[in-house]
Amino acid sequence: MADLAPIYDEMRASPMNDWVGGSDPELVGDACIAILTRLLPLGGQSRILDFGCGIGRGLVSLHKAGVRPQQLVGMDIMPPVIDFCDQHIAPHLPNTRFELMEGANDHYDRFIEQRERKTTTALTEAYRDNFTDAYAFSVFTHLTQADFQLMLNFVSSMLKPGGRFMFTCFELNEFSRHMVLAGQAIFPLDRQRMYEADDVFIANPDDPLAFIAFDIDLIRQMVWQAGMAVTKVSYGCWMGGGMGDGLQDAIVCTKLPALKAVDDVKMTPLVHREPDARPDKPASSLKKLLRHWTGR
Ligand SMILES: C[S@@+](CC[C@H](N)C(=O)[O-])C[C@H]1O[C@@H](n2cnc3c(N)ncnc32)[C@H](O)[C@@H]1O
Repeated sequence: MADLAPIYDEMRASPMNDWVGGSDPELVGDACIAILTRLLPLGGQSRILDFGCGIGRGLVSLHKAGVRPQQLVGMDIMPPVIDFCDQHIAPHLPNTRFELMEGANDHYDRFIEQRERKTTTALTEAYRDNFTDAYAFSVFTHLTQADFQLMLNFVSSMLKPGGRFMFTCFELNEFSRHMVLAGQAIFPLDRQRMYEADDVFIANPDDPLAFIAFDIDLIRQMVWQAGMAVTKVSYGCWMGGGMGDGLQDAIVCTKLPALKAVDDVKMTPLVHREPDARPDKPASSLKKLLRHWTGR
C-alpha cells in the first residue's frame, strides 16, 4: 500500500484544507469513508466518482480503508484543489485521475481563477453510463436549488443503470424542523427563519450557500427528475438530539436499472397452501397439523 502519511501531511500544511471544511483531513476523510462503505458495497470491480473531491480527503481514506476500485475519478470546479490532487495524490493511488470541471459556486468562486475547465457536456460524453458508484461529501450542502438539480442530473448521466450515488445534505423533515424550532440543532440556526422556511432553508442570507437545507419531498422529486430514486437514507446529527451517524444526512440514490421483460422477472417463491389450510378453515388445518405431528 502507498505511504499515505505524507499525503495527509501535505493536506494539513495546505491552506486549502480550510477551504474544504478544516479539521484534521485524515480524521474527516476516515469518518466520511466509514459512512460510505457502510452504505455502499465497494470493491475491486467498482468504478467510483468522487464528486466535488476538494483536496481528496475522501479518496485517500478510501484507499486507506482497503478499497481498490478499477477506476477512481475525482472532479471539482476549483483549479487549485485539482492541482493539489494531481501533484500529491494521482501519482500514489492506482487507477486514479482528476478532472477540473466547469461550474460556479458563490461560496467558492473566490478560489476559482480563469483556467480552461472541462464542460459538463464533455465530461458526460467521456463518462456516460460509466460509474458503478459515486459519492459527494459536503457538496450538496453548498448548492442552490437550481444547481442541486443540475448536479444530480450530471452525476446521474455518468452512472451506469442501477449505479448508486451517495450524497450528503441537510434534509428538512418533521423531525429536523421540530428540533431546529426547539433550538436543539448543533449549528446556530435561526428559529424564526426556520419557522418561515418553506421548501428551502437558508441559514445566513449574507452567505446563502454556507448552510442550505431542502425539504424531503423536494429532494426526492429532484432525485427522481434526475432519473434516480432514493433507496436508502442515513440521518446525521446536525439537528441535535444525539441521534444519527455523521454530521450531515447521507442520501443513497440508485439510477433506474434497465428493466427486464416481465416474463424474465424471478418471483419470490410463495409458500404452497393446501386448499383446506386457508384461514377460513382453521379447524381442518389444525386437525391436519395434529395428524402430521402425532402420526394419527
Ligand atoms: C466543503 S468542500 C468538500 C470537499 C470534499 N468533498 C471533502 O469532503 O473533503 C465542497 C467542495 O465542493 C466543490 N463544489 C462546489 N460546487 C460544485 C459544483 N457545482 N460542482 C462540483 N464541485 C463543486 C467545491 O469546490 C469544494 O471542493
